[in-house]
Amino acid sequence: MPGWDEAADWYAGMVADPARGFNDLAASTALELLGDVRGRGVLDLGCGEGHVSRRLARAGARVVGVDPTARLVELARGAEAAEPLGIRYELGRAERLDGFGDGTFAAVCAVLVLHHTDPLDAALGEVRRVLRAGGALVAVVPHPVLDHPGAGWVDGRRVVGRYTDERFWSTSTGGPVKAVHNIGWHHRTLATWINALAGCGFRIERLVEPLGRGDWRGLPRFLAVRCSS
Ligand SMILES: C[S@@+](CC[C@H](N)C(=O)[O-])C[C@H]1O[C@@H](n2cnc3c(N)ncnc32)[C@H](O)[C@@H]1O
Repeated sequence: MPGWDEAADWYAGMVADPARGFNDLAASTALELLGDVRGRGVLDLGCGEGHVSRRLARAGARVVGVDPTARLVELARGAEAAEPLGIRYELGRAERLDGFGDGTFAAVCAVLVLHHTDPLDAALGEVRRVLRAGGALVAVVPHPVLDHPGAGWVDGRRVVGRYTDERFWSTSTGGPVKAVHNIGWHHRTLATWINALAGCGFRIERLVEPLGRGDWRGLPRFLAVRCSS
């Protein structure tokens, strides 16, 4: 099964493709939920090649990006060298944010990343630890009700699959990665997401379900949440 290391260059190319609205919608949703970030320390968790970090920095945040995929961090650092925005990129994973002290950040921004973490409670516990009291977590994940094992398209309509089947899933056939579904992620039901946040001590302030484009027009593409620590 391919992992993020094999998929890094494919992913970076896809994010850079202006014809694709998917990543832009996820990033815009997160920035809207974060609100005014001017002068605030923000951790971009699972920053990938850094497009969300750059948007945060341009909006005035002091940004640190962290990601476990060496090639993506290399690309992010390359972009920072080409256009310095004051962003620091580190290798690391959500479940063990060892390099960061307690209460370091005013906000954590997790765009399309928490569904790759396991165990989720460890990742949320680390996020809460590195947030200062009252700090914000904004997270965006593929909408769990419509994007999960067995969900798909029948005659142009989205049909639900094995929604209650909570597990790691992937559509890899051994070929090149053409979608994040080929890499796979940890499917969790809506109740699991919300209960995990509450169980880790977060107070949910706002949920949004931004509508997709193309085939996804009129359907919620993501589940996005803003909560406070
Ligand atoms: C779908 S990409 C999203 C990247 C970026 N946030 C964006 O919106 O383009 C998922 C990212 O999560 C990272 N990732 C995978 N497992 C992770 C983990 N356990 N902790 C933090 N990041 C992880 C991958 O390396 C990849 O960069």
